[in-house]
Amino acid sequence: MTASENPADGPVIELRGIDKSFGPVQVLHGVDFEVHAGEVTALVGDNGAGKSTLVKCIGGIHPFDSGEYLFDGSPVHVGSPRDAAALGVEIVYQDLALADNLDIVQNMFLGREKKRGLILDEYAMEELAAETLAGLSVRTVKSVRQQVSSLSGGQRQTVAIAKAVLWNSKVVILDEPTAALGVAQTQQVLELVRRLADKGLAVVLISHNMNDVFAVSDRIAALYLGRMAAQVKTRDVTHAQVVELITAGRSGDLGIQQANGNGAKA
Ligand SMILES: Nc1ncnc2c1ncn2[C@@H]1O[C@H](COP(=O)(O)OP(=O)(O)OP(=O)(O)O)[C@@H](O)[C@H]1O
Ligand SMILES: [Mg+2]
Repeated sequence: MTASENPADGPVIELRGIDKSFGPVQVLHGVDFEVHAGEVTALVGDNGAGKSTLVKCIGGIHPFDSGEYLFDGSPVHVGSPRDAAALGVEIVYQDLALADNLDIVQNMFLGREKKRGLILDEYAMEELAAETLAGLSVRTVKSVRQQVSSLSGGQRQTVAIAKAVLWNSKVVILDEPTAALGVAQTQQVLELVRRLADKGLAVVLISHNMNDVFAVSDRIAALYLGRMAAQVKTRDVTHAQVVELITAGRSGDLGIQQANGNGAKA
């Protein structure tokens, strides 16, 4: 791993004891979660484990019922996506990421357009969009004036990520960015994910693909039935252990040990 590790640095985001219910159904149970600068944290877990819900709590889309949210060590209240964006937290959703009928520049500046006086500063936006893509070593996009509907899945994901980077994000969260992508496109997005972390951003990658997780992550956080089974350094675990954490909530002495009758049998 090339990411600079500074043990003196605390997490950028730290969640403690997050509970979240939808009506009578409790989806998150006392979840602790840490996100570090310069690292890719893979958030894994079975379908319905609560990954997207957790991320939506971080992004201010869902209010959580109880627990603490610390940003750079200080307690914060994130009550809306706007609050999250103000802290530098950007979330890239698989489907909602971009507007199809707009071009790349329009998408990247949507709602935050640059103006000179009363008119849009198209030139400045175009330059910034192109610079950001080039800065991420994205070369497959031919023109920033290309309509997003004409892009491949991987290119779209790239533009969505570049948009997050353009706004000086400190934390970029990607909810299954490679789920719908082919092999080459997945590779391209994973390389981009790694570059973001190497630039010093804190990156959270939700993925079901163990190869992807092991290829790019520094840490792995495994949710099991709404509980954080374990958060470990990627280099300290095997594929098989992570699969066990996902499917049983524990693996050897890692994970949930008979918690509230909800853990797996020993
Ligand atoms: N808005 C909502 N209202 C009610 N229940 C919800 C809502 N959003 C999620 N849930 C429930 O919360 C649980 C966790 O869902 P979530 O989407 O967080 O899982 P996930 O880990 O992201 O799964 P997947 O891997 O399938 O994307 C599920 O049981 C789901 O039905
Ligand atoms: Mg999900």
